[in-house]
Order: sequence, then structure tokens, then C-alpha cells
Amino acid sequence: MASVRHIINSRWLFHLSKPQIVNSSLLRLFSTSSRCMTIMPAWVIDKYGSNDVLRFTKNASFPIINYPNEVIVKVFAAGLNPIDVSMRGGYGAATLSMKRDPLNIKQSDSEFPLILGRDVSGVIMECGLDVKYFRERDEVWAAIPPWKQGSLAEFVVLSANEVSHKPKSLSHTEAAAIPYVANTAWSALVNTGGLNKDNCSKKRILILGGSGGVGTFAIQMLKAWGAHVTVTCSQNAERFVRELGADDVVDYTAGPVEEPLSALEKFDLILDNVGGDTERWALNLLKPWSGAKYVTLVTPFLQNTDRLGIADGMMQTAATVATKALKHLVKGVHYRWGFFAPSGPALDEVREMVDAGQIRAVVEETFSFSQVPEAFDKVEKGHARGKTVVQISKGGDDL
Ligand SMILES: NC(=O)c1ccc[n+]([C@@H]2O[C@H](COP(=O)([O-])OP(=O)(O)OC[C@H]3O[C@@H](n4cnc5c(N)ncnc54)[C@H](OP(=O)(O)O)[C@@H]3O)[C@@H](O)[C@H]2O)c1
Repeated sequence: MASVRHIINSRWLFHLSKPQIVNSSLLRLFSTSSRCMTIMPAWVIDKYGSNDVLRFTKNASFPIINYPNEVIVKVFAAGLNPIDVSMRGGYGAATLSMKRDPLNIKQSDSEFPLILGRDVSGVIMECGLDVKYFRERDEVWAAIPPWKQGSLAEFVVLSANEVSHKPKSLSHTEAAAIPYVANTAWSALVNTGGLNKDNCSKKRILILGGSGGVGTFAIQMLKAWGAHVTVTCSQNAERFVRELGADDVVDYTAGPVEEPLSALEKFDLILDNVGGDTERWALNLLKPWSGAKYVTLVTPFLQNTDRLGIADGMMQTAATVATKALKHLVKGVHYRWGFFAPSGPALDEVREMVDAGQIRAVVEETFSFSQVPEAFDKVEKGHARGKTVVQISKGGDDL
């Protein structure tokens, strides 16, 4: 599927966007007012802070296709993740501002008004001229990179290679629960950890923090690939993670988990969603001298650049990761940092697993577009047993 996508996306054309086919049914689906295509409703922030910086506006700028490989998506449902709460408070501002405006052309405060929301499920409204894999009205899902405007808006612009056709078996609300955690788990387990559907069958995997968004997706994907999965979570999440397929479950609220975990057979890969002092003991649980890897998603990369600036922050980051990797390499295990990576082709593969019934969407609570502050509140309080989803516009099959 990914190679087909590559072949048909690889033509170079000079115009950016295809002429719009205007017919009455499209207008019904896409138009919101007589001033459509210049402004749209969205939740924005104009400065960093707590929930009171969230502001609803009907006058957010309508997204524009700037490159011929971009698409505009009408948002039916948006998923919230812990990173939205962190970004609302300014997390990653230095690095993300640099990614948005690398030459500093727009000068200060260029990120505001900023739209949060990293998952989208919706319908393609317009395609750039280089886009061959999608057509207007295709139902799609995607994870939006944190340096782009998010999905808490009626429309969002994305690169076509970040987008994928939505699973037919899911409603838009369910579909919006998956892309960001799927692209994060895929990047950590496949790109960084070297796992794939053909090499997992005899592997023992430990997921630290298995009951959250990333963990619940990772359990299901690894079980679909035949791995043996051990999970740490709180006692009241045990039934939930077992239902998703976890083989062994260790309750972290019952005391330190190092002891019960070290009584088990050693692991081929550890995915750490918890961080803190876990890396002090977790690498001892890996099979030494066998290519075993520890991949942590909790890294100081963005804090370093926020605190020290881009250049010094990156130097500090490189020095930290190199020192740790070397320290563990001499003990025969690999130490790695994992990061979210947007990928439509990865979502194409996830779609096939979803439609085959191997992965289900775990939506804990659904909010309306007017309830975005309440949705942030929910994510901020933590201890979710699934994702928080905001229904943005009517027109999806479930709205
Ligand atoms: N590097 C990246 O690009 C990247 C991308 C995405 C996410 N992340 C990070 O990855 C982590 C997981 O993300 P998420 O979306 O899955 O977060 P989440 O939905 O908030 O889940 C975190 C889970 O961790 C569990 N937990 C808390 N303390 C624990 C402990 N000591 N031992 C075991 N489990 C514990 C909680 O489970 P209980 O309710 O059972 O206590 C909670 O369900 C977050 O730190 C996030 O910032 C990083």
C-alpha cells in the first residue's frame, strides 16, 4: 500500500491546488457561511497558560494550500492527547516555533493564534495538484504534527503523506482516538525498536505505563503481531489491559515494580511511557547481548530547548543521549529515545488491522465543540481509560 502511495504521489506539478468542482452537494457538505473559505470557527490560544487561555472564535483564518502535496480536511472529530495540555502551557515552544518559521521571517509571537488538537478524522475538501492518492470527499484520518495548526477547528491543512483513508469499520469519533498514539507507538516500536509483523512472534515485550493512550494501542498492535506482552499499570486498569490482550500485568500502585518484573523471564524490548527513575532499573530487565532495546517516550529534548534555547538545548540533548547509549551499550543492551512521527503509510497499515478487528478504538469520553475546555480538563486530570474526543462538525456518519 505504501509503495502505491509513493508511486502516485511522486509526480512534480507546478500549480498548487486543483480547481474546485462546485456543485450543490459539495457546497452543502463544506460551506459554513457566505464568507466560507476565508474564516472558520476554531478554538485558539493567544498566549500560553492554563485552561482560561482557550478562546472560541468564528474568525480563525481558513487554512491555505501552500504546497502542491497538501490537502485541506474538513474536521468531523478531533482527538486530544497529553501533549495538547502541555503545549497549551508552552511546552516545546522554542523548537516548535523554529519548525513553523525556520528563517524567523514572521518575527515574534508567530505561533499565535495557535490551534491545538493532534488527531483528526474527517473528509478531504481540497487537494493540491500533486496529490494523486486522495480525492475530494474521501474519508480520512491523520495525526497532525505539533508544529502545524491543529484539529480543534472546522478545517485543517496537512501534507498528503501524513493522511490516510479512515477505517471503514470506525465512526469518525472512534477514528479520532487512534492516529496520534498509533504514529507514536509505530515510530517507537517499528522505526526505533525494529519490530514488525514478521519478527514479533517469539519476542517478549514490556510496556511500562500500558493503560494510557500509547500503551493501549501498543498492546493491541503487538498482540496482533504475535508478541508476548507484559504491562505495568494501576490495579484498577488490570482488567482493561487484559481485555486488550496483555499477557502479564504488574500493578505499580502495589509497590515498586522492579522486584516482580525481575522475577519474570527477561525481555527483548521495553517501551517506557512513564519515565522518571524507570531507566535506573528497567534496562537490567533486558536480555543482554541479544540486540534487546529500551525505548523511552519520555525524553528531555523539548524541555532542553525551552530552557537553554535551540543550539544549547540540542547540544545538551545530543550529549545526554550519546552518554546514556554508550553506558548501556557496554552492558550489551541498546538505549533509545522514541518520538512521534507523522506517517500516512503507517496509518494505512493500522487501518488494515482495525478493519480486520485486531485493533479497536478506545474512546473514554466524547465532548461537543462547545465543550473544548471541559475536554482539556479531562485530559489534564489524567488516569484515562481511553481517549478524549471532541466532535467538531455535523456531517460525519456518527454525528
Ligand atoms: N516522545 C514523544 O514524541 C511522545 C509522543 C506521545 C507521548 N509521549 C509521552 O508518552 C507518555 C504516554 O503517553 P500517553 O498518551 O499514553 O499518556 P496517558 O494516556 O496519559 O497515559 C499514561 C499512563 O501512564 C500510567 N502511569 C502513570 N504512572 C505510572 C507508573 N508509575 N507506572 C505505570 N504506569 C503509570 C497511567 O496509568 P494508570 O491510570 O493505570 O495509573 C496512565 O494511563 C507520556 O509521558 C507522553 O508525554 C511522548
